[in-house]
Amino acid sequence: MELKEKNIPKQLRYQFGELVLDVQDGVFTPTGTTEVLFKAVQKYIKKPGKILDLGCGCGVMGIALHQIGVVRGLLYASDLSEESVACTKKNADRYNCPVVAKSGALFDPWVEEKFDYIVDDVSGVSEEVARISPWFDGVPCESGRDGSSLVVQVIKKARAHLNSSGCLFFPIISFSNVNNILNAAHENFSNVELLAHEEWPLPKEMNQHVAILRKLHEEGYIQITEKFGMVLWFTDVYVAYNL
Ligand SMILES: C[S@@+](CC[C@H](N)C(=O)[O-])C[C@H]1O[C@@H](n2cnc3c(N)ncnc32)[C@H](O)[C@@H]1O
Repeated sequence: MELKEKNIPKQLRYQFGELVLDVQDGVFTPTGTTEVLFKAVQKYIKKPGKILDLGCGCGVMGIALHQIGVVRGLLYASDLSEESVACTKKNADRYNCPVVAKSGALFDPWVEEKFDYIVDDVSGVSEEVARISPWFDGVPCESGRDGSSLVVQVIKKARAHLNSSGCLFFPIISFSNVNNILNAAHENFSNVELLAHEEWPLPKEMNQHVAILRKLHEEGYIQITEKFGMVLWFTDVYVAYNL
């Protein structure tokens, strides 16, 4: 309990200012991947548009994008977890960010709805890694042994929810089957561009589980590298669109 409270960042600082967000129990605490994804999206978007924050957690991504003025009209946000949706509404309210936030799996809450930008951040690490990580305490992550199943479903369904010049942003975390996700992106979009790459050391809570990670790596489910006595993993951020 004490450890968890220590892990909850009460403040997230981004280049453009400062956000203070509530993160209740059962709601994902934003990580370095959140920040890398946000920075890549911020750099890429040149024109405000209708935005969906998919897998919104505490609402950090959508609210941060609203803060920098790239959300046109309402912010749309959804998450499988009802706690996350309630948390997103509360945080959005604090920042005067008008939001339509719904709970449901992937695109289920958005039947026939289309967007200019979809920022996907649904759980994308191997279920086994989620179990031994400090990140998914009470947070849904039914992503399969190779971590790719939710992200691949998002990629396959996203096209039907994008306006003609719309694009999908998504992170690929190396605690998943990177190639499987990339193949799905190339099969569904004519253009797939890498926007950011960041390597991370293993969180200390996972040091005791290196044998599990090595096994998953050897079986081709995840990608880790071992250098200078450290286990490294990475986040890549992609944008995909059709011309
Ligand atoms: C890695 S967290 C990201 C949260 C937030 N974007 C952030 O950066 O803090 C993944 C989110 O996906 C949600 N999620 C898991 N499975 C989902 C599903 N099938 N449909 C929608 N959201 C899902 C989780 O509840 C969680 O909030």
